[in-house]
Amino acid sequence: MSESQQARVQAQFGRSAEAYVASAGHRTGPDLEWLLAWGRKRRAARVLDIATGGGHTALAFSRFTETVVAIDVTLPMLQAARRFATQEGAAGVRFVGGDVEALPFRDSAFGTVTCRIAAHHFPSLLPALRQIARVLRPGGSLLVEDIMGEDDEEAATFLLEVERRRDPSHVRAYRQLEWTAFLRAAGLTVLDEAVMSKVRRWDEWTGRMRMTPEARADLEHFVLAAPARCRDVYDFRIEDGRVVSFTDRMLLLRADRD
Ligand SMILES: C[S@@+](CC[C@H](N)C(=O)[O-])C[C@H]1O[C@@H](n2cnc3c(N)ncnc32)[C@H](O)[C@@H]1O
Repeated sequence: MSESQQARVQAQFGRSAEAYVASAGHRTGPDLEWLLAWGRKRRAARVLDIATGGGHTALAFSRFTETVVAIDVTLPMLQAARRFATQEGAAGVRFVGGDVEALPFRDSAFGTVTCRIAAHHFPSLLPALRQIARVLRPGGSLLVEDIMGEDDEEAATFLLEVERRRDPSHVRAYRQLEWTAFLRAAGLTVLDEAVMSKVRRWDEWTGRMRMTPEARADLEHFVLAAPARCRDVYDFRIEDGRVVSFTDRMLLLRADRD
């Protein structure tokens, strides 16, 4: 990963580590349950959780599979996740520092790789997917979830601006067609898919990234001044002139290594 992107990710998530451990939308949810159901069905053994954040996906998989390794590029995030895992009695999860583009594992080392709500931070998708394919054994599964890219270009550009003002380490969300094509190019075939809506409560969403009050006010003005049709695509709720929430869609894919 380019150094400036790595620095942006580490700056953003280093200071928000505890907030990500506490985040209800990361700790639980139908999306996590869906990934777990795929994992159970595939009898996930030797799991690698990439961009583990607060460690919630790693922890959930460790409830039914023996070996779970969790990797993240942000050290304070790994430390917070490790503390959380210990508190929750999941001391068996191994936490490792590293970048998705240079995974420190041998070829075919894992039966399952998970990567939940993180790929929009990767500088580009294909090098990351090639690394994932390399560490998966043939027939192994990648279980991935990320924000789904929007086909409507004006609306997508609007939300990208909102995302980047909140979190400068946000790179972009990929559309389903792009995911399928990049996965194919990396030697992975999509075998299951699901799309789920996710409601973002504005105060929690902007607060989690520890935006300053001024930056939050600027972002709110930006949203309120945007074309209504862009806001409508994401179901922005406005009450008494204040943004309350919006909804985006999450794409979940299971792709097996050829
Ligand atoms: C939103 S959190 C992930 C949430 C987590 N997967 C879960 O299920 O709760 C995003 C994480 O991606 C990590 N990250 C971003 N780019 C990365 C990269 N290139 N390699 C490894 N980790 C990365 C960040 O450090 C951050 O901890």
